Amino acid sequence: MTIKRALGIDIGGTGVKGAPVNLRSGELTRERFRLLTPQPATPSAVAETVFELIRHFGWSEQDGPIGIGLPSVVKQGVTHTAGNIDSAWISCDAAALFKTVTGFQVALLNDADAAGLAEMRFGAGRDLAGLIAVVTLGTGIGTALFYNGQLIPNAELGHLIIRDKDAERRASLAARERHEWSWKKWAGHVSEYLGELRRLLWCDAFIIGGGASNKFDRFATYLECPAPVLPAQMANLAGIVGAALATLPPSQVKPRS
Ligand code: BGC
Repeated sequence: MTIKRALGIDIGGTGVKGAPVNLRSGELTRERFRLLTPQPATPSAVAETVFELIRHFGWSEQDGPIGIGLPSVVKQGVTHTAGNIDSAWISCDAAALFKTVTGFQVALLNDADAAGLAEMRFGAGRDLAGLIAVVTLGTGIGTALFYNGQLIPNAELGHLIIRDKDAERRASLAARERHEWSWKKWAGHVSEYLGELRRLLWCDAFIIGGGASNKFDRFATYLECPAPVLPAQMANLAGIVGAALATLPPSQVKPRS
């Protein structure tokens, strides 16, 4: 049976957002719903919030599968890191927890990987081949790597050390706000960061997502990068759409040819 619809859920440091997604078109079939991330964002508290969101949509097994993106390295349903969520997510069997709390077997993946899947399938990356890095600039820096449309999961390149500092400390959107840097000054840090990714990985293009994507015009002119830099196209829906796509077998998530 071909899956046509899935519920995509995007867990962030401040909000838990979700919507049913048409997997063929990437469109939401109902309006996005957002709840505040509980504080502290412990696994069990967040799982309860996810359950509330599932109930909001009256979702059942017959409606389709559920995919969830979160700011963590995820392997076989276990979360190994915690970016802007409680450290109790480290070494947590999150898939088992979600099953216990919600009753659903969910597909789990890193939030930047989710955003990347959506951009590569329906957004800025749909016609791109070679090595593409989707870089989400927000509270942190998330990265998703694709080679000819195939995701290489859990790349944590936002934590590259540049001039003795974690790249997130200078090139995330939060760093710009924290330091009150101008767009031009901040774009210098982003250029340095992208330049380092290019030097090490020889990316063919970069797609800038996260909170920075809808501000792209403010800093794009200041960017200096040896590879094309494109704004993401899915705005704040990429995480939801990509989480829904994660419920498909990998062979069906590749960009359209
Ligand atoms: C985390 C990543 C996450 C990114 C964006 C980083 O701090 O390490 O796993 O994808 O933030 O949320």
